[in-house]
Amino acid sequence: MKLETIAIHAGNKIDSDTGAAIQPITLSSTFERGQDGDYPGGFIYSRINNPNRESLENVLAELENAEDAAAFSSGNAAGAAIFQALGKGSHIIAPDDMYHGLRNQLLQVFEGIIEVSFVDLTDMEAIKNEIKPNTRLIWVETPSNPLLKISDLKAISLLAKSKGLLVACDNTFCTPIFQKPLDLGCDFVMHSTTKYLGGHSDVIGGILACKSNNEFWKKIKSIQVLSGAVPSPFDCYLTVRGIKTLPYRMRGHANNATQVAAFLDLHEQVEKVFYPGFKDHPGHEIAKSQMSDYSGMISFLVKGGADEARKVVNSVKIFIQATSLGGVESFIEHRASVEGPNTKTPPNLIRISIGLENPEDLIQDLDQALKF
Ligand SMILES: Cc1ncc(COP(=O)(O)O)c(C=O)c1O
Repeated sequence: MKLETIAIHAGNKIDSDTGAAIQPITLSSTFERGQDGDYPGGFIYSRINNPNRESLENVLAELENAEDAAAFSSGNAAGAAIFQALGKGSHIIAPDDMYHGLRNQLLQVFEGIIEVSFVDLTDMEAIKNEIKPNTRLIWVETPSNPLLKISDLKAISLLAKSKGLLVACDNTFCTPIFQKPLDLGCDFVMHSTTKYLGGHSDVIGGILACKSNNEFWKKIKSIQVLSGAVPSPFDCYLTVRGIKTLPYRMRGHANNATQVAAFLDLHEQVEKVFYPGFKDHPGHEIAKSQMSDYSGMISFLVKGGADEARKVVNSVKIFIQATSLGGVESFIEHRASVEGPNTKTPPNLIRISIGLENPEDLIQDLDQALKF
């Protein structure tokens, strides 16, 4: 089946009791046992599994060409499950431009447990030079947040295989509609389902999917159940509902972003635009080969510093000034002040998540906000 069909049907089950065409939300925390002690419906207890969670895991696994998937209560919880599964003393190579919440998790929650090197993952030599005897995993985020750097998933996966390392890709910015990391050689793919998959900025969630249902994956599945950072049935329902329109939404986000990026690129108050769809973006050729479109995220530097950037984000009328991305509504944020004092993000950087409003309205809104 094609993506659009999978997105609509792989996460739905017609209810056999009522004939409800849309799978109901199963709120029950526990499930009745049969006389023989078995569980006739296959469910035991909702931390272990739940019909709505199973449907979410099924649709995401199919979209990512994965053998299995595991849903979590946030993207950060999904990331933590992989780091926990690696075990004490493991070394991870992670991007120097990594989503700051996961970077801080590695530095603070896994301090003394996991060793981490932050490396420019666009530089294959730099990655090779950082591999140590205890390196277990290369964590990739492409396009990266917020600089939209592009890493070569095929080349990194080949290198990792030759050294016996695992590769996980945070595919939040692209979704399986535009990029399939497992097909490019990665072992795991991760999403903050809070973003494009949910798509309506009303649910927090995360998910992992695997290329192979092996022993390491079984460890992740047991961490999911035993640590218990699982999403509620309602959150799973909302995410499955969002995924039904994902292919069409992603095309809309990408089309709008192309127009907004072109506008920003010509604007006299804009110093630089980071957008992998531009031919002069350093990662454009790799992006073209591994992504089928460039998604809806753009970062740009305004002329001036933090004050000018803040003036812009404070002057928009349609964009919502908030942290997050991937919703039908457009978001704008002054990224350095969200990331905190140790950020390397330039003070004049603004990150925008292009929604599904009319692109002419978005361009007009940015144009008036850039008149400072
Ligand atoms: C690229 C990326 N990965 C992971 C996360 C973490 O996801 P969550 O906020 O659902 O824990 C985010 C959140 O902004 C993100 O942007």
